[in-house]
Amino acid sequence: MMTDKLKVGLIGCGNVVSYGHRPALTTLEDVELVALADITPARREIGKEWFNLDDDQLYEDYKDILAIDEIDVVCVTVPQKFRRQIVLDAFAAGKHVLSEKPISNIPAIASELIQTADDAGLKFGMVHNYHFLPEYRQIKQMLTDGVIGDVRVAMMHFLGVIDYPGAAEYQADWRHTMAAGGGVLMDMIHAVYLSEWLMGAQAEQVMAFVDAPEYAHRAPVIEDLAMLQIAFPTGYASIHMGWGEGTGGVDITGSDGQIRMRYKDYQTSGFNQPVEFYSVDKDWKRTDHAITNLETHTDNIARSFTQLWANFRDAIWNNSEPLATAKAGQRALEIALGAYVSGVTGQVVKLPFDTDHPVYQKGIDGIVDIEAWEHSKTKSASLFGLRGK
Ligand SMILES: NC(=O)c1ccc[n+]([C@@H]2O[C@H](COP(=O)([O-])OP(=O)(O)OC[C@H]3O[C@@H](n4cnc5c(N)ncnc54)[C@H](O)[C@@H]3O)[C@@H](O)[C@H]2O)c1
Repeated sequence: MMTDKLKVGLIGCGNVVSYGHRPALTTLEDVELVALADITPARREIGKEWFNLDDDQLYEDYKDILAIDEIDVVCVTVPQKFRRQIVLDAFAAGKHVLSEKPISNIPAIASELIQTADDAGLKFGMVHNYHFLPEYRQIKQMLTDGVIGDVRVAMMHFLGVIDYPGAAEYQADWRHTMAAGGGVLMDMIHAVYLSEWLMGAQAEQVMAFVDAPEYAHRAPVIEDLAMLQIAFPTGYASIHMGWGEGTGGVDITGSDGQIRMRYKDYQTSGFNQPVEFYSVDKDWKRTDHAITNLETHTDNIARSFTQLWANFRDAIWNNSEPLATAKAGQRALEIALGAYVSGVTGQVVKLPFDTDHPVYQKGIDGIVDIEAWEHSKTKSASLFGLRGK
């Protein structure tokens, strides 16, 4: 039903709120944050200032937010390990849910959440905000317009991911624990959902090397490098993902040409603005394309969240599908976990997972239940609970 304003409750007030949800929720005039919950008192205080809230709009327990009648939608930005109960309770309270990525750390849970949303007739969207970065919007438009013909291979270079810690007032290093559900690939799952979106199809198979050479000195339990090949019904994607300093950008090959995109200071998606963007036709003729950058990279990121929120608002008000669906969130999760399984077994993994697969049921905690290949790089790096196995 159309109302004047979409009323929002925010659950979790960490770093992603500062540069993402904060600008979105303070920019859109018909979307209003009315309450915020965070278990860390210092984060509630920070949120209070950011959103100009009163003390009675701050909560320690998210359930108090779900009890507020006027709230239409909750945005769940806690670390993924804690999403399940919050999202289930939100649907039980009749709230739409916008979830941070990844949807969960476990496919079986993702599936449970999606089913619950469907049964309740509520919207369940993902913060897949890279759809709204100008470079990806423009690449997608060119592919849709057939500028390079049929899309054959998408190469996503993400080797310069900066390893930013989480909010200092909470647990800054949670991304490096098993509770994160994976390492750099899980954290930068943006590349994974983008590969499906750019290919315009759902992934069927994945194979990968998954290792931790950068962090070998700190007895890592999750990866800092993942090299994936993904098969689609008609075409392939490769994702090269790493914390560290390395190549960023995207190269796409089509039947009639190619597209190349690179970032300022040779950086990686999410960390700087795109500066080089051209297509080459089948006669090897180059055409440069202007990019609709804002003044700074921070502005580009903020706009991506604002446009994503506007898209989710419209999905609620018009009863339409958001661009970033929870089902896409589950598929991205399974591709990432499939890469981990491939790294451990040395074999190609068929997608989606069978529902009785240990990794479908338990995420990376299920990896110890599968047989590791003796030459596996993932095993020799002792990732995902394989230390001492
Ligand atoms: N879309 C993006 O580009 C993007 C960017 C960064 C992070 N994220 C995602 O956002 C989520 C949070 O990441 P972050 O970097 O903001 O983490 P963070 O560590 O900075 O913040 C997490 C916050 O959640 C709070 N919290 C934890 N458990 C809670 C609970 N049960 N109830 C209420 N609050 C709780 C903590 O107190 C903390 O304030 C992760 O899932 C991450 O993957 C997405």
